Amino acid sequence: MNSVNSTFKFKWGNHMFKKLVVAAVATSFTLTASVSYAGPKAEVLHWWTSGGEAKSVAVLQKEFSENGGSWTDMPVAGGGGDAAMTALRARVLSGNAPAAVQLKGPSIQEWYEEGALADISAVAKKNNWSKVLPASIAGHMKCEGKWCAAPVNVHRIDWIWANASVLSSNGFGMPKTWDEFNATARALQAKGIIPLAHGGQAWQDATVFEAVALGIGGANFFHDAFVKLDKKALQSDTMVKVFDQMRIMRGFVDKNFSGRDWNLATAMVMNGEAAFQIMGDWAKGEFLAAGKVPGKDFLCASTPGEGFLYNVDSFAMFKVKGSERQDGQKLLAKLIVGKNFQKVFNLNKGSIPARTDVSLNEFDHCAHVSAADMNASSVGGTLLPSYAHGMALRGAQAGAITDTVTAHFNSKMSSKDAVAMLVKAIDNSK
Ligand code: BGC
Repeated sequence: MNSVNSTFKFKWGNHMFKKLVVAAVATSFTLTASVSYAGPKAEVLHWWTSGGEAKSVAVLQKEFSENGGSWTDMPVAGGGGDAAMTALRARVLSGNAPAAVQLKGPSIQEWYEEGALADISAVAKKNNWSKVLPASIAGHMKCEGKWCAAPVNVHRIDWIWANASVLSSNGFGMPKTWDEFNATARALQAKGIIPLAHGGQAWQDATVFEAVALGIGGANFFHDAFVKLDKKALQSDTMVKVFDQMRIMRGFVDKNFSGRDWNLATAMVMNGEAAFQIMGDWAKGEFLAAGKVPGKDFLCASTPGEGFLYNVDSFAMFKVKGSERQDGQKLLAKLIVGKNFQKVFNLNKGSIPARTDVSLNEFDHCAHVSAADMNASSVGGTLLPSYAHGMALRGAQAGAITDTVTAHFNSKMSSKDAVAMLVKAIDNSK
């Protein structure tokens, strides 16, 4: 008892001692805070490693450091981001998630449901995101009513890129129908020009496939098949026709296509080895980074048919500890949706800004076509999320479609067998 009492007296009865303890603790807090708080920081996982992509991500890196942030780069090469997503899962499983991650579409909500994402609503509110972003884009950035990702841009998928002089010197324009595309491609092939620059990687096969599917089937068919996964659309005669066209496309690629990276395929169009590439407008970023001029060196046109396939790049913030990292996330989120960043980044990236109040004055003809077509498609009900770039479906289902597309493209499988495989793969993925 006594000893307890005396301890009590010693600790709390002695005012001088108490003051000393308080002062020591306060000093050590000040010291810790001033010594160890080094300002906002962020480790950023992304897959922007090609020439045009690297130039674009450098814009964010620069703005971040100009605003006091220190950036740790975590680039994971691999177009379409499959390798980046594998790396992400490994980091999260080891309890060491990167602070900011290039993530998009329903996988944002999937990660949120796993409890991995931070709520960035405070930044969104302070910076008026709901006023400057279209509702369709904002919808992708929200998880259970909270903001859980920051959008960077709008990429369009259904584009054809062409070498301008290869077409003009052979008397061709940009094809307006798939029949015209096939006829032009056959004529160029007969002259020894590779009609279609393509990289045989699953996501690139899927990119071509969804542009063909939209072109041949139209917007309602695309929505039924690749957003609703409606069985009637999946096993329709239209789907058979889509695979028929994919078989024709297979005949237009060169024999070395397998495994080729998308930017090397773009380079084939740049140097006139190939006539066309079907790819999202990050390909334009590649042409621009190489000093090529749209309308003069290369041409852009939407793939034949109606509609607009969109792909919104965004960053999600993973739950991290410590004020430096959390401040880094807030700063990054704010900058990403900032007006200046949205302009400069997208001028490099080939996409258009996600914000509606950024002037397109400095943007080229292809960006203007993209913006006009996006607005018209939005009004006309033909604005559609890209399945191949993770905007329409959850991972397992998108993967099931892509597996079928790739299996068909790389074999002699008939269109009917491909359709049967597609239906089965979707059933199994549910
Ligand atoms: C991304 C683009 C990227 C492209 C090629 C797409 O899925 O949205 O930002 O440039 O993949 O890597």
